[in-house]
Amino acid sequence: MRKNIVAGNWKMNKTLSEGIALAKEVNAAVAGKSLKCDVVLGTPFIHLASVCSAIDTTKTGVSAQNCADKVSGAYTGEVSAAMIASTGAKYVILGHSERRAYYGETDAILKEKVKLALDNGLTPIFCIGEVLSEREAGKHFDVVRSQLENALFDFSAADFGKLVLAYEPVWAIGTGKTATPGQAQEMHAFIRKTIAGKYNAETAGNCSILYGGSCNPSNAAQLFSNPDVDGGLIGGASLNADDFMQIITAF
Ligand code: 13P
Repeated sequence: MRKNIVAGNWKMNKTLSEGIALAKEVNAAVAGKSLKCDVVLGTPFIHLASVCSAIDTTKTGVSAQNCADKVSGAYTGEVSAAMIASTGAKYVILGHSERRAYYGETDAILKEKVKLALDNGLTPIFCIGEVLSEREAGKHFDVVRSQLENALFDFSAADFGKLVLAYEPVWAIGTGKTATPGQAQEMHAFIRKTIAGKYNAETAGNCSILYGGSCNPSNAAQLFSNPDVDGGLIGGASLNADDFMQIITAF
């Protein structure tokens, strides 16, 4: 079912003790509140197990930021979906533009990662979005459609229904340049229409589509008030519990 979700993506920030402290602060702030969204913390791998045991994960979900495209074995430095699931984490961010740009992750690799995440009961938070030159060339819809088609549209409707999507225009990530509520709504509606065309209206209607890219306490309410924007994937503003809580309560 479609849910509102506010997920933090800490990226490569916070030592272990800082991360545990931040997770506890968020968890304490959400405890006892009746929120209009689910809350997720996307921590570095090494924080996952400690954060999961330090907080109430029924109130605050925990996510990895990547997983291996292989099951197990001689892949030095990699972390498998099964390992992530064994920490108590329930989500994994996949296809983030930083992974695509800096670590060469292609749609084909991402398809494998999504499959392994699903096989291990994790909910992928799958990121899509265009770079500035693609938007300026009027190709943003084509880019997003092809990311969906190439990485995700081989999955069955039942498996697709387990995914959360995040539209993150790359030009808005960490730049302070947010998509306007109109730009976000336009793309989210396009994504939903594309899913309906491939699968059906029910699958499209049930899909949570988050917005990411310089979302902060002052623009979250406007972005989330759009009918096709079901929450946010928050980078910088998730590193501070007060800012993150203001975004969570923007619903
Ligand atoms: P910022 O919120 O820092 O722009 O980052 C967005 C993002 O990349 C979340 O995954």
